[in-house]
Amino acid sequence: MPRKVNYGLDYDDGYDGYDDYDDFDDYEDYANANDYGVKEKEKPSWNDRSTIKVEKKTKKLALWQCSVCNSDNEQSSSSCDICGVLRDPAQNIGNGSAENAPFQFNTLSPDDMVSVGKMSSRKSSKVSANNTGKKAIAKFTATNEMAENSSGIISGANQLNGSESGNANIKSDTPQILASDLHQMKLDKVSTNFRKAKPLAEYKPEKWMLANQDGILNQLNLAVVGHVDSGKSTLSGQLLHLLGRVSKKEMHKFEKEAKEKGKGSFAFAWATDESAEERERGVTMTVAVAYFDSKKYRVVLLDSPGHKDFVPNMISGATQADAAVLVVDASIGSFEAGMDGNGFGQTKEHAQLIRSFGVEQVIVAVNKMDTVGFSKERFEFIKSQLGNFLRSCGFKESQVTWIPLSAMENENLVTSATDARLSSWYEGSCLLEAVDSLQLPVRDASKPLLLPICDVIKSHSLGQVAACGKIETGAIKNGSRVLVMPLREVATVRSIERDSCPCSVARAGDNVAVSLQGIDGVHVTPGGVLCHPDYPVTVASRLELKILVLDIMGPIIVGSKFEFHIHHAKEAARLVKIVSLVDQKTGKAAKKTPRFLTAKQSAIIEVALDRAVCAEEFSKHRALGRAFLRASGCTVGVGIVSKVFSDES
Ligand code: GTP
Ligand code: MG
Repeated sequence: MPRKVNYGLDYDDGYDGYDDYDDFDDYEDYANANDYGVKEKEKPSWNDRSTIKVEKKTKKLALWQCSVCNSDNEQSSSSCDICGVLRDPAQNIGNGSAENAPFQFNTLSPDDMVSVGKMSSRKSSKVSANNTGKKAIAKFTATNEMAENSSGIISGANQLNGSESGNANIKSDTPQILASDLHQMKLDKVSTNFRKAKPLAEYKPEKWMLANQDGILNQLNLAVVGHVDSGKSTLSGQLLHLLGRVSKKEMHKFEKEAKEKGKGSFAFAWATDESAEERERGVTMTVAVAYFDSKKYRVVLLDSPGHKDFVPNMISGATQADAAVLVVDASIGSFEAGMDGNGFGQTKEHAQLIRSFGVEQVIVAVNKMDTVGFSKERFEFIKSQLGNFLRSCGFKESQVTWIPLSAMENENLVTSATDARLSSWYEGSCLLEAVDSLQLPVRDASKPLLLPICDVIKSHSLGQVAACGKIETGAIKNGSRVLVMPLREVATVRSIERDSCPCSVARAGDNVAVSLQGIDGVHVTPGGVLCHPDYPVTVASRLELKILVLDIMGPIIVGSKFEFHIHHAKEAARLVKIVSLVDQKTGKAAKKTPRFLTAKQSAIIEVALDRAVCAEEFSKHRALGRAFLRASGCTVGVGIVSKVFSDES
C-alpha cells in the first residue's frame, strides 16, 4: 500500500543535532512516523527528548511542564521550548516583572538566537517558494490561516508581544520579529499536531450541512460482487451501455479491439476493466467506479473483482456499499464452484463480507440464464441453495431480491424479459426496477466529518492531490479545513467532485473526490481518514474485536498472524489474546480465555497491528468499526471493533 512510507531517517544518528531546528523538523517526521507505526529503534519519546534537551542546557534549574505538549521547560522560559505555547498567558498580561515577562529575549542563549535565525530563513525560503509554485502558495496561505484560527493562544501571544514592546529586556527589533516568527511557526505546529479532540457532545452542525439538495438525485453506492467470471463486469458494462453511459461508438470500439485480442466475449466487460492487464487476462483486478442514473438514484456502481487473489481490493472498494448486487453464474458447475466452502467460493465469501460491511439489502442477479435455457428449475435450485446461506449470514428474506437475467443477451436488465423462455414463468421486476426499489440507508450529515480515503489521485505536474471515498458522516464544502489522519496534517478543501462533476457541498453518503491544498501529497494515503480538525478519528495499533470465525480448516491460536482489514486500511496483525468465547444466542461472554478458536465460533479477541490504523469502536462509528481477518488468501473472521487501545492515550 502506498501509505507504507519509509521515512528512512535514523533518529540515533542525528541525536546531537537536535538543537538545530532543521533536526526539529526531522523529529516531527519521526513523531508522525511513530503515529503511523513506522518501525523505529529504541528512541526517547517526545517528552523524553525535550527533557533531555533541557537537561543538557540547564541541569540544575527547576522545570515547569507545558500544558499542551507536556515538555519540561526552564523556569526562566515564558513559553514552551518545544511547542511555543505561553507558560501562563493570563498571568503574564499586566505583570511587568522581568521574571515573568512573556518574551524575555535576553534569556535566549546565543545558540537559541542561531536557531531563531535558521527558522526564519526557512520561513523566508518558503515565502520565496510562493512565487515559484502553486502548491507552495497554497501551503503558506493555509498555514497562516491556521495560525489565525488557532484559538486564543496566538492572539494572546500577539497581544503580549505588543504589550511588551517597551520592555527594556528587548535588545533590538530584529530578534523580536524573528522570535515572534518562531512562536508563530511553533504554534502552527501545535495547531496541527497537538490538537486535542473535543467531546462529541459539543459538536453542533452548521446549517449548510443539513440543507436539502433539491432536484439532485441521492447517491446510492451499489457494489457488484460475486464469484470470479460470474459476469459482474459484463453486467456493469451492459447496464452502462443501455443507460447511455457508454456510447455506441465506444461499445463498437471495445467489440472490435476485444475481438482482435481473441477476447470477443469480454467486450462489455472492457467498459469497466480498463487496464491492459485486466483486459489481457480477462479478470478484474481493482474495483471500478462508474455512474448511472435510475429513476430514483444516481447510482455509484462499484464493480468488484471476483478472483480470490483480489479479495482485499474487493473489501476496500465494496466497503462503501449501501446495497449490493450479488452476481451468480447459473451455468452448471459454475454456481456450485462459487458455493465451495473451502475458501474458493467467492459467492459465499463475498456474501459474508458484504453482510459484515453492514449491507442489508442485496439483489441476487442469477446471470447467464441463457446457458441453462432460462430454466425455472435451475433458478429455483439456486434460490433455495443460496437463500439458505444468505439467511445464515444474517440477510433477511424480505431484503433479498432474486432476478434471473442474462447480461450478455440483455435479458431482464433495464426492461422486462423478452425471451419467451424467461417471460413465460418470470413476472417480477427487471434489474433496474429492483435497484430503484432499494432503500437508502440513514445518512448522518449532522455529525463531524468522517471520510475514509479509498483512493488517492496525485497530479505531480500540478502538485495537486485528491482523496476519494464515501463521506460516512458530516459534510464538506469548498474551503473547509480537514484533518488528514493518521498523519494529523491539516489541509483545505480546494474543490469537490461528485459523479465526476464539480460541486460545492457534499454530504454523508456522497462518493466524492476531494482536492486538497496546503498539504504534501505523501501525507494523504488510502486507508487514512479525512476528519473535522476538532474531532479526529482514533489511531490505534491494538484493538479488541468481537468476531465470528468463518469456515476454517485448522484452529486459531494466540500468535496466529492475519491480514487485518478495516474500512480501506490493511495491516499485518497478530492475535495476542483470546479474551473469551461469546454465546451466539445471548451475545454474552461464555468461556474465558479458551486456548483456541474453531470454525463458526464467536469470540472476543485482542489483536496487535504492525502499524497503527484509524479505527473506532463500532458503537461510536459503524463504518470505522467493522473489521475483517484474512489468512492464506481466505477470510477467516469477520467482526466489529469492541475496544480501541488508543495510541494517544
Ligand atoms: P471477474 O471480475 O474477473 O471476477 O469476472 P466477472 O465476474 O466480471 O466476469 P466477466 O464480466 O469478465 O465475464 C466473464 C465471462 O462470462 C465472459 O466471457 C463473459 O462473456 C461471460 N458472460 C458474462 N455474462 C454472460 C451471460 O449472461 N451469458 C453468457 N453466456 N456469458 C456471459
Ligand atoms: Mg469483472
